[in-house]
Amino acid sequence: MNKTFNDKFLWGGAVAAHQFEGGYKEGGKGLSIADFMTLGSHETPRELTDTIEAGKYYPNHKASDFYHHYKEDIKLMAEMGFKAFRTSIAWTRIFPNGDETQPNEAGLEFYDKVFDELLRYGIEPVVTLSHFEMPIHLVKEYGGWSNRKLIDFFARYAHVCFERFHTKVKYWMTFNEINNQTDYSSDLLVYENSGIKFKPGDNKEELMYQAAHYELVASAQAVQIGHAIDPSLKIGCMIAFCPIYPASSRPEDILFTQKAMDTRYYFGDVHVNGEYPTWMKPYFEEKGINLDITPEDLAILKNGTVDYIAFSYYMSFMAKYTDHMDYREYEDLFPNPYVKANDWGWQIDPVGLRYSMNWMQTRWHKPMFIVENGLGAYDKMTDDHKIHDSYRIEYLRNHISEMKKAVVEDGADLIGYLPWGCIDLVAASTGEMKKRYGFVYVDADDYGQGSMKRYPKDSFYWYQKVIKSNGADL
Ligand code: BG6
Repeated sequence: MNKTFNDKFLWGGAVAAHQFEGGYKEGGKGLSIADFMTLGSHETPRELTDTIEAGKYYPNHKASDFYHHYKEDIKLMAEMGFKAFRTSIAWTRIFPNGDETQPNEAGLEFYDKVFDELLRYGIEPVVTLSHFEMPIHLVKEYGGWSNRKLIDFFARYAHVCFERFHTKVKYWMTFNEINNQTDYSSDLLVYENSGIKFKPGDNKEELMYQAAHYELVASAQAVQIGHAIDPSLKIGCMIAFCPIYPASSRPEDILFTQKAMDTRYYFGDVHVNGEYPTWMKPYFEEKGINLDITPEDLAILKNGTVDYIAFSYYMSFMAKYTDHMDYREYEDLFPNPYVKANDWGWQIDPVGLRYSMNWMQTRWHKPMFIVENGLGAYDKMTDDHKIHDSYRIEYLRNHISEMKKAVVEDGADLIGYLPWGCIDLVAASTGEMKKRYGFVYVDADDYGQGSMKRYPKDSFYWYQKVIKSNGADL
């Protein structure tokens, strides 16, 4: 195959503020939900504490210290040939508590410096407004996204960001992986998405749908605000895409899997179509789910549809029908015998990326943007500071190759490819540093001990070659 990507294709990498910046109290920053999440592991979940407790370790406080290393890090990105870099704005740097009326100038200045540095090298900033880092004050005072008031707080925050940065940042996303909370049994996932801490007796499913509704309205409102400030802005949603395959050709498995996909991806339907899909009304009635949805909300959804679909892709799922047709992510997924998994149990499936892109193209008819993909793995640094990460190269090569087929052979409309954690950072699910994704090694352990020095891995030079050849030389 000699056809490849167009010359505007955005190669680069991605991070999120709370996993990368550190400096958790600097420049007037307020505390975010991530500042209250302890170190966990594959076996032990992260604790979501109410206060910062002595004797517990909170890895996001220090993270990879981009706050002090941003010049050096951006230089490394430029060396790899990045055309784009995705990060998030920490809401708490701009509105430390979330409900103030005036933003924190020092926080805005930090992002001015970061975006200017990127633009100096011709790297396009791609920015998420909310990436698992809402102000803790909004959780404690308002109950997170279970409260309608959050829509206005978010709108104010979005307005300030668009107004300040619209000449520097063209590509925006509203809520990172808004659909992770489909698994409403998970304290961590619902907390990261919506800042909700369940109490005994809560109807978790209803609370999740309510929070998601407010987020979808807030997102649609942000799209309208951004376009009013600058019609040339491209404002997208961000979906965690894990295609769900049926375990067999048994008709019940096929129907069940279709329903599972509808449940996991209705968020995208609302973002793109500006309305809820028809199956949801009877579903809510059947389940006795009562939501606060006003006619004004529905009008906002209709007028705030997204410009593109950003998504992460790490793995695929497999489901089968047992005794219920309502998809329960916490009990309906099974290991797929046809694919292998990484050390954290994430099923590695490059073909699934091509499948996903085709699915999205057919369903949503919007440009797509891969803003996360990658292999979390244990890396070992040699005595002469080398990291031979051939496993990561293999993972990325196989995924890029399938992505290329989706673009070249299937006609998928893809803006760019920004693999995750391009410079090592703190893992979101476990808080570990040793679950590494980067092309650049950061010398720090799970407890933030180390020199914080940066070392290019073998994959750094490989990716440099991929970008230089615009994906021809894999
Ligand atoms: C996505 C998130 O879920 O996956 C990122 O958007 C996260 O924040 C990434 O880091 C990889 O997950 P983990 O748990 O390995 O960091």
